[in-house]
Parts: sequence; structure tokens; C-alpha cells
Amino acid sequence: MKRIVSSLLVFAVLTGLSFANGTQEAGNVILNKDKPLIFFNRQPSDPTTGSIDMEAMNWNERTYYVGFDAAGGGDVQGKMITDYLATAPASIDRNGDGVIGYVLCIGDVGHNDSKARTEGARKALGTWTGSSDPASHKQGSVVIGGKTYKVVELEGKAMTGTDGSTWNANAATEAMGGWATKFDKQIDLVISNNDGMAMGCLQASNYPTGVPIFGYDANADAIEAIGAGKMTGTVSQNVDAQAAGTLQVLRNLLDGLTGSDVYTKGISTPDAYGNQISASMDYIADTKALLAANTAVTADNWTAYQAGNRDSGIKQSTAAKKRVLLTIYNSADNFLSSSYLPALQYYAPLLNINLTIVQGDGQNEASTLDKFTNFNNFDAFAINMVKTNSARDYTDKLAY
Ligand code: BGC
Repeated sequence: MKRIVSSLLVFAVLTGLSFANGTQEAGNVILNKDKPLIFFNRQPSDPTTGSIDMEAMNWNERTYYVGFDAAGGGDVQGKMITDYLATAPASIDRNGDGVIGYVLCIGDVGHNDSKARTEGARKALGTWTGSSDPASHKQGSVVIGGKTYKVVELEGKAMTGTDGSTWNANAATEAMGGWATKFDKQIDLVISNNDGMAMGCLQASNYPTGVPIFGYDANADAIEAIGAGKMTGTVSQNVDAQAAGTLQVLRNLLDGLTGSDVYTKGISTPDAYGNQISASMDYIADTKALLAANTAVTADNWTAYQAGNRDSGIKQSTAAKKRVLLTIYNSADNFLSSSYLPALQYYAPLLNINLTIVQGDGQNEASTLDKFTNFNNFDAFAINMVKTNSARDYTDKLAY
């Protein structure tokens, strides 16, 4: 029996067959549990406390997170709003009652990006109580044209779709319609934690014309809306740096790089093929996270963020072709489908990475997990979870 097993093993190695739980590569069997694993854009974390899921991050030595500075992004969004208000005309207070009323589209109450943006906007406007809960806010203040106004959050809503999906643009259209009726001229400002929901608000037939509206993501349609004067501002989380960064870290791991080379080659220094991401990214060692920086996008600089501006620092590499299985939590998410995915599809061929993309429905992890299979066909994995605390569901599958 022993002889049969070892002959089968020799046969498999010689013929390059896949093993039950691994892929044969240059004579070595790489077990799925030892392959590179990148979490991207949704950081494995506790939906209530926001603490990073280090069990997931330490799944193996080749596990990393690539995203953007979520907390810093909230601050950028808040500052963009108060900078705008500082020079706004007195007519911004539509009913002239000395109170700036705003409504807030939150996104996903259990998502650290939502929490950070709610916190950033509320802190800037003085309405922050220490909690990102929709109902938890206090009266704040802001300076407009040298005069101090009171600030009131009229209402904040998670924006969950009828199907249970989060960051839902249709829910935002409906909420905005209701708010416009309920609060009328008390609404002086609309804040949305992503562009999809902001564009959704603008779709409401009774959207109060001229009321400033701020989003987040710098999606192509939002950038055009800023250019057309329909939207006031957004924040770029630098989708090109994030998508290219995800692929570059995978490339480095697949090329056998270790230590700091994993998060510096092609990022802060050129890689072996002469590629380097132009934007600077920060590496946070404690959480194994490589993060892009955020920038405010307004009427002053929107043209620099128009679609089609790709990073010229990434050119066709001569690296060996590798296959990566990548998941996206919701095929209908505006940011991931209209910004992130096209960026991945642009950079992956340049890095000689062949992507197999599976997309979920944004509601149940099963919608993605059911298609997260055939691991032996892949050299590495990249995961964007439906819920930020679901990492284990994916790593458990790779353990066998
Ligand atoms: C984006 C949102 C998106 C969410 C999905 C965030 O980083 O800003 O637009 O819906 O990721 O996880």
C-alpha cells in the first residue's frame, strides 16, 4: 500500500497534477493553506468594536490587507465639508434660522469605512458624541463666512436595500425623497459616506435644488457630477493605488519575496520589472496593512480625477503568469464594480496575473463563498468579504 501511495506521489509530481489540497509548482507542492492571501478594501475587523481580526491577518505568513486609510479618510471628508462651509454664502442657511441642518447616508453600520466617515463628518461639525450609531449625535457648530452657526443632524440612515444589501443607492433615493418632504428647508447640507448613495440622493425627484452634497469614492459619475456643478465634493480613496497595490503584493509573494520586500517592491521602490506605483502608500506593520491615502476632490481639482487617468508607473512586466482567484462582495456595489474592478482589470494583465473573479450579492457570504472553490487551479487568493468579520469562512475553506 505504501508503495502504491509513493508511486502515485512521484507520478503526480512528474506530471504536474494537482493534489487534493495544493498546487504543484516547480516540483514542489504548495498547499492551499500556504498560498498568498490578500484581503482587500474590507478590512477583517469586528463590526461593533472595529478591532482588526488578527487571527485572519495571521492566517499564514503570506497574508496581508491592502486598502486605504479609513480613519484618515473620515477626517479628509470632514475637513472638505468645513472648508467648503467656511466660504459659503449666508444663503446656505436656507430658512435663515441660524442652524445648518444636514442629513446623513451612513452605508453599513457594521463597516469600519462607514463608521470612520460618520465620525469624520460629525467631528468636523461638532455633532459627534463618541458613537457612530445613526441616532447618536448632538448639536454642533460651524463657521460660515466668519459667523458661527449651530449644526443639527436632522437624521442619519444606514441605507439597507429591500434585499438586505448595504450602501444601497436606491434606499438613499427613497430616504432623500422622504427627508425632503419631512424637513423641507431645514436641510442645508447632504452628507453621504459613498458616491453611490450620494448619486442616489440626487435621483430623488424632490431633491432640494442647489443644496450642497458630499460623497466619497471619486467614482467616474460623481466626478462628472462635480464638474457639472451637481455634486459639491467627494473623496478619492485612490482606487488605482489600491487595485495596483493588491496585485503588486500578490505578485511579490508569488515571486517568492519575503520580509519588507513584500510591501515595498513596486510600491516604494521599483520591482524587478521596473514597475512602481506612483502614489505613496503606508505600511502598518501591526495589522499587516498596506494603505493608500485619501484626497478631497472638489470643483477646484476634479479634472485630475476623471476616468481613464491610470498610473503610468505600471507597465507590461515580464513576470511569470500566475492565476489568482478574487472575490468581490457585491456585483452591484458602485465603487467596487464601477471603479475598483475596472482598475484591477487594467493592471492585472500588466503584472501577468490572470484573475478569476467571483462576485456576490452583498447580502450573504454564501453568495460569494459558494463560488470560492477549485483552489488547486490557483496560485493565490484575494478576498473582499460581504461582512468584515467573515474571514474565517474563507480561510476554513483553504485549510483543506
Ligand atoms: C466604499 C464604498 C463601498 C464599500 C464596500 C467602501 O470603501 O467607499 O463605496 O460601498 O467600500 O465595502
